[in-house]
Amino acid sequence: MTEKYDWSQRHLIDIDKEKVALSTEDLHVFYGNFEAIKGVDLAFEKNKITALIGPSGCGKSTYLRSLNRMNDMIDTCKVTGAINYEGVDINKKDINVYEMRKRIGMVFQKPNPFSKSIYENIAFPLRRHGIKKKAELDELVESSLRQAALWDQVKDELHKSALALSGGQQQRLCIARTIAMKPDIILLDEPASALDPISTSQVEETLLKLKEDYTIAIVTHSMAQASRISDYTAFFYLGDVIEYDETRKIFTTPKIQATEDYVSGHFG
Ligand SMILES: Nc1ncnc2c1ncn2[C@@H]1O[C@H](COP(=O)(O)OP(=O)(O)OP(=O)(O)O)[C@@H](O)[C@H]1O
Ligand SMILES: [Mg+2]
Repeated sequence: MTEKYDWSQRHLIDIDKEKVALSTEDLHVFYGNFEAIKGVDLAFEKNKITALIGPSGCGKSTYLRSLNRMNDMIDTCKVTGAINYEGVDINKKDINVYEMRKRIGMVFQKPNPFSKSIYENIAFPLRRHGIKKKAELDELVESSLRQAALWDQVKDELHKSALALSGGQQQRLCIARTIAMKPDIILLDEPASALDPISTSQVEETLLKLKEDYTIAIVTHSMAQASRISDYTAFFYLGDVIEYDETRKIFTTPKIQATEDYVSGHFG
């Protein structure tokens, strides 16, 4: 399949510097000797949704996880290059990763609520971060559930187990849990892949609302989803970004043949 395309071709747009929330420079990720990400330069614009697309195994999750240093947890994994956030390279050793992750939150593919009540799913991590007053916790639980478009459905049963919620509701609870930390940036790895179409569209509507306040990066295998919700799209292939542009251009007039084939389902 690789002979079909000229992989030296790239089309990567630049985002205006003052609009950039987060960017990577020459980012490489290694698992042992295997180089999974091969020097990616990408910038995420503030208050926009950027979709990361590409075939399975091309490094989307690896790249996304490196943005808030989740790869630190994998012993064999080494990340080199810069991750710039508010004038600081957060890939540096002396960064307080715990504090940084309050600013750059992550939502995973599988909804992973704690086996606790709906209320405690949000309040428990907040308490660990030093917020102890009940009135303040109540306020944050309500505001984050409202932002995640879940409040009206759960407001009368906040003390029910989160595990009794539907998959889509659980995922919105996980989004609420992330929002409660008041992050700047939300990273989502295929957040709707385990959901039915109705739950998926609820999560999508939630994300569209959230971009008023947050910068969002989302990995998705759904071309329909990328085109419905994202402003920018990056096409990944074998650890590189091949094309990065406004989503409508990626889906209507891509510059690179591989991108065109991928988004139209004719790749390979
Ligand atoms: N913990 C790990 N240890 C070793 N190799 C890994 C690890 N995680 C991922 N890889 C390898 O890195 C490459 C990129 O994987 P990654 O999970 O980032 O791809 P992806 O684009 O998210 O794929 P998918 O669409 O299937 O989720 C793959 O070759 C994968 O086998
Ligand atoms: Mg993945």
